[in-house]
Amino acid sequence: MSKKTKIGILGGGGILNAHAPGYTRLKDICEVIVAEPDSNRHDHIRKLLGDNVEIVGDYTELLEREDVDAVDIILPHYLHITATLAAASAGKPVLTEKVMARNVQECDQMIEACAKAGVSLTVCHDRRYDKDWQALKNVIDSGELGEILFWKLEHNQNVIFPENSWVRSRDNLGGGAIMSCLTHQIDSLRWYGGEVESVTSMSKVEESRMEGESIGAVIARMKSGALALLSINWYTQSHEAPNGLWYEFNHVTGTKGEAYFMSGKGTFVKIHDNQPKVFEYDMRGEGGFAKVETDNSITGHQQCIEEWVKSLRGEKAEIVTDGTDSRKTVEVAEAAYRSEETGKVIHLPIEPLPWK
Ligand SMILES: NC(=O)c1ccc[n+]([C@@H]2O[C@H](COP(=O)([O-])OP(=O)(O)OC[C@H]3O[C@@H](n4cnc5c(N)ncnc54)[C@H](O)[C@@H]3O)[C@@H](O)[C@H]2O)c1
Repeated sequence: MSKKTKIGILGGGGILNAHAPGYTRLKDICEVIVAEPDSNRHDHIRKLLGDNVEIVGDYTELLEREDVDAVDIILPHYLHITATLAAASAGKPVLTEKVMARNVQECDQMIEACAKAGVSLTVCHDRRYDKDWQALKNVIDSGELGEILFWKLEHNQNVIFPENSWVRSRDNLGGGAIMSCLTHQIDSLRWYGGEVESVTSMSKVEESRMEGESIGAVIARMKSGALALLSINWYTQSHEAPNGLWYEFNHVTGTKGEAYFMSGKGTFVKIHDNQPKVFEYDMRGEGGFAKVETDNSITGHQQCIEEWVKSLRGEKAEIVTDGTDSRKTVEVAEAAYRSEETGKVIHLPIEPLPWK
């Protein structure tokens, strides 16, 4: 058996819950070591990764070690650039959690450093590796929906972080909910429907929760000509409540049919009748949405980690979220902020500016 790949995990907070099973299921081909300065978290890290997992406090120690082959960065957003530049100069390939960085200028520095060092840069945009989200992509790519006219993507969550959390700081998060998590929807929109041509946006800050916006709405015109409406609501309890609504929702309308993904429900498709009918008040006879059956035995995070580890081992891998691609997701979110600041429609590409 060939040598196990050793991954240094930088950070051992909340999202380790999603990454850890990605590594434990690959225990025959890889092992991990974790850098987490907060010793209060060490017991939980051991619960996730086993009693024998090595834990250090300072991630620079991991970067200096020759036995560490690559790093998985699951740190607060403002540290993604610092850790990536340090990893690149230590010659370690990088997987970083979304969002790639706080703005495109930071993304560019990360891309350049990794290219210069000859190491790969991958972003864990887990939705692109999730079987239900992939099922919607397959429906769209089949062309069965005809010309795509409209996209609607939503993210709904009740987000209240403790007073001292980095998420409450605009500087640490890279803005608010749009940069932090609507980037899941922006990234998926680009993956499903191609690149964005222009963006307009408005958002709402709820100061009791965080400095950045808790609510945001983005309207985008796609290069294809389609329109897209994306929203994030970090103030709703709708998806958690009994008889509530949904956490994430992606809906696409084409000239020949439509399809959607809804969290907890799956992916559904409806091809319209060949003979379009004049609108009638009762269209229930039209035929319903059919569920696309998927194998959900592993999560998007687990699949992403599997592909990344395969790529590190020189095996055939399906990496669909490299740094160059994921930078464009950050660009759309940054353009949304510039639209809010200027009250104007922002056309892409945007000029990279330093974080202020
Ligand atoms: N894909 C998803 O659905 C999803 C969900 C949640 C979080 N995330 C992403 O995961 C990343 C981390 O978020 P989180 O929720 O785990 O945050 P968190 O606050 O729970 O964890 C961050 C951890 O980093 C540690 N840390 C801080 N500075 C460090 C340093 N210098 N060296 C090592 N560790 C350090 C902290 O002690 C903390 O344990 C972010 O990029 C976030 O956007 C993704």
